[in-house]
Amino acid sequence: LPDPDVASLTDDDVADLLPRPEAESDKYRRGVLGIVAGSDRFTGAAVLAVGGAIRAGAGLVRFASAETAVRQVRNRWPEAITTVLDGPSVAEVGRVQAWVLGPGMGTGEEAVALARAVLATDVPVLVDADGLTILANDRSLLRRSAPTVLTPHAGELSRLLDVPRERIEAARMEHVRRAVAELGAIVLLKGSTTLIAEQDRPVRVNTTGTPWLATGGTGDVLSGIAGTLLSGGLSGYDAVSCAAHLHGLAAQAASTGISGGHGPIAAMDVATMLPQVIRS
Ligand code: APR
Ligand code: MG
Repeated sequence: LPDPDVASLTDDDVADLLPRPEAESDKYRRGVLGIVAGSDRFTGAAVLAVGGAIRAGAGLVRFASAETAVRQVRNRWPEAITTVLDGPSVAEVGRVQAWVLGPGMGTGEEAVALARAVLATDVPVLVDADGLTILANDRSLLRRSAPTVLTPHAGELSRLLDVPRERIEAARMEHVRRAVAELGAIVLLKGSTTLIAEQDRPVRVNTTGTPWLATGGTGDVLSGIAGTLLSGGLSGYDAVSCAAHLHGLAAQAASTGISGGHGPIAAMDVATMLPQVIRS
């Protein structure tokens, strides 16, 4: 019997949920996404997150980080508006409708202060990667006025819940529900299938994708896609559901050979295939 507390998400569901620009829409109304990611040490995660966001159709991406990360993002994505941060404030970044926080930002004192500033805003925030480590060390940061969306893999969820990774792997459904209840957030749990959970909603299971997705940086692209959908007005639950679905389809498209079969992909290939996937 089907479990009423579990739901799948079809291509048609996603097509119905995706926002489409109207004749009268302008870039600000379509959605402005702020991304705080990367650092002087790590720049690739930032480039990939911005790429996922732009290829998913963001109205505008405002990227803010340390100088080295900003330089890399500007070189790769001239479409983004960038700000070099010189302290733990995002006031100078400008108004955004949602934030992506975390990939490659580090977990040191300065990163923690910056995460605090982003989480203090009154718009939805998607937290991934290093941002999740910062939250695991100080869960009081989760007390916010706007929705918070978390996108952990099992290791990151293990730190957030203080439960051994093996126990999470053995009972993923149970632990994603527990994370929602304990952390008061919308939670997307990554893995070979992806689970998406929110309070009082069925857990959605996404099965698009390929094992070739298990390569560094694909998670950062997913953050960018979800951020775009969040800034475009989807709920956190719908935004990460659609993002996971499109991300998996784009990976399949990138991985498929000229006569069938599947092969390796680079994380950026997933971003590159997004427009085709969204078109179809
Ligand atoms: N089958 C299908 N999809 C998979 C599989 C699989 N076997 N394994 C992983 N994936 C998908 C996940 O669902 C997710 O969408 O690939 C993506 C991987 O995302 P992350 O785990 O966030 O990996 P990423 O951040 O890109 O790279 C590894 O994570 O732990 C950190 O610091 C570490 O830099 C490293 C980074
Ligand atoms: Mg990751």
